[in-house]
This record gives sequence, C-alpha cells and structure tokens, in this order.
Amino acid sequence: MRKRCFIGGTGIILASRLLLPLSGINGSTLGLYPYDRFDEPDICAECHIDISSQYSQSLMSQCFTHMWDEIEYFELALPHSQKEPKVAEVEAGCNGCHAPLAYLAGDIPPKRPAEGTRANESVSCDICHTMTGFEGDTPFNFNYAHEPGDTKQGVRKGTESPGHLIKVNPFLNTAELCGVCHNEKDPFGQWVKATHLEWKDGPYAKAGITCQDCHLPAAPGKSDPEDGIEHPDVRQHLFHGAHDTGKLLGSIEVRIHPNMTNAAPGDEVKLTAVVINAKAGHMIPSGSAEERVVWIHVEAVDADGRRHHLPVDRKGFDGEAFTIASSTEMAYQDIGEIQDIPEFQGLKRDGSVPDGDRIFRLPYLDPQGRMTIAQWNTAGFGPDYRLAPLEAVTEGYTWKLSEDMPEGPVIVRATVWYSRLIDSVAQFLAVPAAEYEPVKISEHATTFTIVQH
Ligand code: HEC
Ligand code: HEC
Ligand code: HEC
Ligand code: HEC
Ligand code: HEC
Repeated sequence: MRKRCFIGGTGIILASRLLLPLSGINGSTLGLYPYDRFDEPDICAECHIDISSQYSQSLMSQCFTHMWDEIEYFELALPHSQKEPKVAEVEAGCNGCHAPLAYLAGDIPPKRPAEGTRANESVSCDICHTMTGFEGDTPFNFNYAHEPGDTKQGVRKGTESPGHLIKVNPFLNTAELCGVCHNEKDPFGQWVKATHLEWKDGPYAKAGITCQDCHLPAAPGKSDPEDGIEHPDVRQHLFHGAHDTGKLLGSIEVRIHPNMTNAAPGDEVKLTAVVINAKAGHMIPSGSAEERVVWIHVEAVDADGRRHHLPVDRKGFDGEAFTIASSTEMAYQDIGEIQDIPEFQGLKRDGSVPDGDRIFRLPYLDPQGRMTIAQWNTAGFGPDYRLAPLEAVTEGYTWKLSEDMPEGPVIVRATVWYSRLIDSVAQFLAVPAAEYEPVKISEHATTFTIVQH
C-alpha cells in the first residue's frame, strides 16, 4: 500500500511531546522514546524504493542481527557486563549504536534477534532522518539528539513529500552525524573506535570530502520514482565498508622492487615494498580495528620453481613484536575469564597469518596488558601501526641468497590480505567463515636474475 497519509499536524506532535519526560534514565537518552515514536523502514520503502533496497543490503540495517554481532553481545559483552562492575555500562551501551531503537525505548537488554523485536531494525532510516544533532563538542558514544515524528531531516531546499514533512538540516551532510556512532570511548576512557576523529585529522577533511561522499556517493536520479524530482546528486545508501570486497579491493596498494637487477648466489638482495592507504578517508583498518587483520606477505619463486617466503625486516620501534606474525604468541585470554573457562590459555594471537609477515594493526590491550578483541575491556594500546589516509610506508626484505640458487629469473610477489576477524577467535566462537576468510586486496610482482660470479 503506497501513499500513507501523514498525520503530521504540528499541534499533535507538540502535544504528545509535552507528555514525555524531558530526559531518559539518569539524564541520558536511554528510555526516552518508546519504539512506536519511530517509523519502520518498511514504510519508507514504499516510496524510496532504491535507497531502501541499497540500505537493506548494507550492514547498517543489520547492526543488531548480523550473526557476529549477536555472538559478541550475547556471549561476551552481556555476561561480562553482568559480572564485572567496571564494564556494567555496556549492557545498555552497545545498543546505543547497534540497536538504537531498543536503547531509546529502554528495552535493555534487547531480546535475541530471533524474537523479532524492533531492536532488529538496527540503525533504521528514522534513526538518521529524525536526528537533529548531538550533545557536546565531540560526537561519540551515541550522544545523538532526536525529534521523532512526521518531520524527516534532510538537506535539500524546495522538495516536498506526500509521506512526511521535511526539515532542512545541514547536520545531515556532516561527518559528525556518522561520528556519534563511529567514535567510541570505552569504560576505561580509551578511544576504541575513532573513524571520525581519524578522518578529521586527515587530508580528506581538509579537502572537504566527507564520509557521505565515499559511503553514500551521489548519482543522478529520483529518490522516489513516482513523486520525486530528478536531481543530479541523489545519495546512494550503500554504506559499503569492510564487508564489501569491492570496497576493500585496492584500498591498500602495494609495489615491490629489488635493489639490483642481477645477483649471484650468496649475495644479499634487498627488496622494498611500498604500501599505501590509497582509498580510505581514515586509518586502514579503522573502527573495529581490534578484530581486523591486515597483512603483507612476500614470497619468491626461483628458476627451479622453489618457493621462498621472505620475513619482513625489523624496524626496531617499541612494541614492534605485535606487528610481526608469530604462531607461538597467545592472546585473548580474557575470553576465558568472561566465559568461565578454567585453565584457558588463550588463542593464537595472529591466527593463521604466516610467521614473519608484517601486520598493520593497533593492538588493543586488556587491563592485564594482553591483546583483546573485547574493545570494551581495553585499558591501553600497543603501537599504532596502521596506514593513515594517503600514507605510504616501506617494508624491507633482506634476503641472503643460498649458494645453490639456480641461474635464471626470480619472481618476487607481494600480496596484501584483509581478514575481518582474527580466524583463531572466529573459529573458537563459531562465527561463520564469511566473517574471517581473508580477501586479497592488492598484489604486485617484481623480478631479478641470478647470474654466476
Ligand atoms: C508516500 C511516499 C513517501 C514515504 C512513505 C516516505 N517518503 Fe521520504 N520523500 C518522498 C518524496 C516524494 C520526497 C521528495 C523527493 C525529491 O523530490 O527529491 C521525499 C524526501 C525525503 C527526504 C529528503 C529530504 C531532503 O529534501 O533532503 C528524506 C530524508 C526522506 N524523504 C526520508 C524518508 C524516510 C526516513 C521515510 C520513512 C520514515 C520516508 N521518507 C517515507 C516520499 C516519501
Ligand atoms: C546510530 C549509529 C550509527 C550512525 C549514526 C552511523 N553508523 Fe555506520 N554503523 C553503525 C554500526 C553499529 C555499524 C556496524 C555494523 C555491524 O554490526 O557490523 C556500522 C557500520 C557501518 C559501515 C559498514 C562497515 C563494514 O564493516 O562494512 C559503514 C561503511 C558505515 N557504518 C558508515 C556510516 C556513515 C558514512 C555514517 C554517516 C552518514 C554512519 N555510518 C552513521 C552505527 C552507525
Ligand atoms: C576517501 C573516501 C573515504 C572517506 C572520506 C571515508 N571512507 Fe570509510 N572507507 C573507505 C574505504 C575505501 C574503506 C574500505 C577499507 C577499510 O575497510 O578500511 C572504508 C571503510 C570504512 C569502514 C569499515 C572500516 C573497518 O576497518 O572496519 C567504516 C566503518 C567507514 N569506512 C566509515 C567511515 C566514516 C564514518 C567516515 C567519515 C568519518 C568515512 N568512512 C570516510 C573510504 C572512505
Ligand atoms: C546512517 C544514517 C542514514 C540512514 C540509516 C539512512 N539515511 Fe538517508 N540519508 C543520510 C544522509 C547523511 C543523507 C544525505 C543528506 C540528505 O540528503 O538528507 C541521506 C539522504 C537521504 C535522502 C535524500 C536523497 C537525495 O539525495 O535526494 C532520502 C530520500 C533518504 N536519505 C531516505 C532514507 C531511507 C528511506 C532510509 C532507510 C531505507 C535511509 N535514508 C537511511 C543518512 C542516512
Ligand atoms: C559508539 C557506538 C558503538 C558502541 C557503543 C558499540 N559499537 Fe560495535 N560497532 C560500532 C560501529 C560503528 C561498528 C562498525 C565499525 C567498523 O566496521 O569499522 C561496530 C562494529 C562492531 C562489531 C563488528 C561487526 C563486524 O561485522 O565486523 C561487533 C561484533 C560489535 N561492534 C559489537 C559491539 C559490542 C558487543 C558492543 C558493546 C560492548 C559494541 N559493539 C559497542 C559502533 C559501536
């Protein structure tokens, strides 16, 4: 059924608002608005057909229902919040961003996704399009402000809708709208998510290129094929990020070169890889950096077809060991404490990343200084060895050629891999394979030739 009549008499909206408390539980927005103050996305889908279809394929519509989110909240964060007073706030807090309708309704903890409550709407159309701004100076930890009802916040002047009123609000086109959820401070006061702050410090913010420009790119068309006006720049609601292989491909570029074109057996050849964050407006990895593993693997094939894995050269900075894969290092012991597993030794810190490969990461450390994927249990960090926007770093590979290297060409290939979740953790928690299977996001090969002395 199309053409819902809006009941938006301003008088009705104001009268109903007066009956509401001025703030929710403890002065926050927790419990401020019952579920029925927000429209369901299905209503918007009657008219905004393409936008709704794009959005429903994105993670923004699945923040609460997506399987790994369900596992992490219900099997780690929620039990932890109930036994450890220091992190008690996350019982409600996770939902401020992942199930904002449940948070605003005070329905905490929400029921599991299978129960089909409105928590499942995740970050719905109405959560963004009734958001008027945020409290304070810095957007973070769901410090949003809403005016739910029949007025939708937009940015175009002079458009009209048969479904709702429109309020022109430039806030919608700012990166701060995204920052209310894409910056997170945990119970230890650590910035465990800072995508908006990283962007703000970087070259794209200076150039005026926002989150919307890359994640809701503008294309010609109509946002409502029946009643909408044709515009040159309709926002495509893609929200494609680390879960979109196309978005990941080429986000890091790699080139590799040798320091000599001919080498003899026994020589020392130095290869240098240049690794660039060529495409993202923030760090790679950003956001859920505690879960992502991004690494470079360099392998050579000699004229006899033998393979030689080249480990990265040490640079010597503090905490560098966290950035070089090791199959013997264990981490994530806090999972055992949260789940009451006696004698839990932890899981492989780097999963199945080959020994000696460089990992671009920010290690999140629990109160005991061990690496954790529980971002709410992060008391400090190791070295930030991620790639900033448009930053290039070099990685060296010094290779002492053996005396039996065959004459002929040696092909050296550098590949960059991206895994959304450390596989050791994923397998332990039975997270589906699609969440951790590595994606090859970039590669380049170079050659040199082995000649006799
Ligand atoms: C009955 C059809 C209909 C329904 C239902 C509907 N819209 Fe719209 N909406 C429109 C039309 C038509 C426009 C104007 C489009 C244009 O001409 O650019 C519009 C415009 C908008 C705009 C753009 C405002 C601006 O000018 O920047 C936003 C945002 C919006 N709608 C959000 C929503 C949301 C959220 C919902 C569901 C809660 C919704 N709409 C439901 C028809 C509808
Ligand atoms: C109300 C909170 C909220 C707001 C506002 C918000 N997001 Fe998100 N966003 C999330 C959550 C939660 C996720 C994680 C989805 C999941 O569970 O994997 C997410 C996921 C994403 C992803 C997908 C990441 C991936 O791994 O594929 C992108 C891209 C994204 N958001 C971009 C944006 C942009 C751009 C804006 C601003 C226009 C924005 N978000 C505003 C909460 C929000
Ligand atoms: C210049 C284009 C560009 C801009 C600007 C940009 N992004 Fe991204 N974003 C990307 C690319 C490319 C990726 C994929 C690489 C990756 O996952 O890091 C990405 C990934 C993401 C992810 C998934 C990151 C991860 O590692 O899990 C999120 C979330 C996200 N962006 C949100 C935002 C938000 C919020 C802003 C604004 C504060 C923003 N982006 C600005 C290009 C951009
Ligand atoms: C994470 C926040 C977010 C969510 C969720 C979201 N939008 Fe938007 N939407 C935006 C932003 C930012 C813009 C760009 C500013 C503007 O034009 O209002 C936008 C623009 C629009 C526009 C105007 C398009 C144009 O360029 O003419 C419409 C219509 C719209 N959204 C409808 C929807 C509908 C329907 C849904 C759910 C299916 C939805 N939005 C979900 C943030 C969001
Ligand atoms: C301030 C907002 C915010 C809070 C609070 C928050 N998250 Fe998130 N969460 C996000 C955003 C945004 C993303 C997407 C980041 C990205 O892709 O880089 C995300 C991503 C995730 C992911 C990864 C999803 C994926 O597909 O890779 C999981 C799991 C998750 N959050 C669980 C939780 C749990 C559990 C809590 C509470 C302890 C929590 N989050 C608290 C905003 C938040």
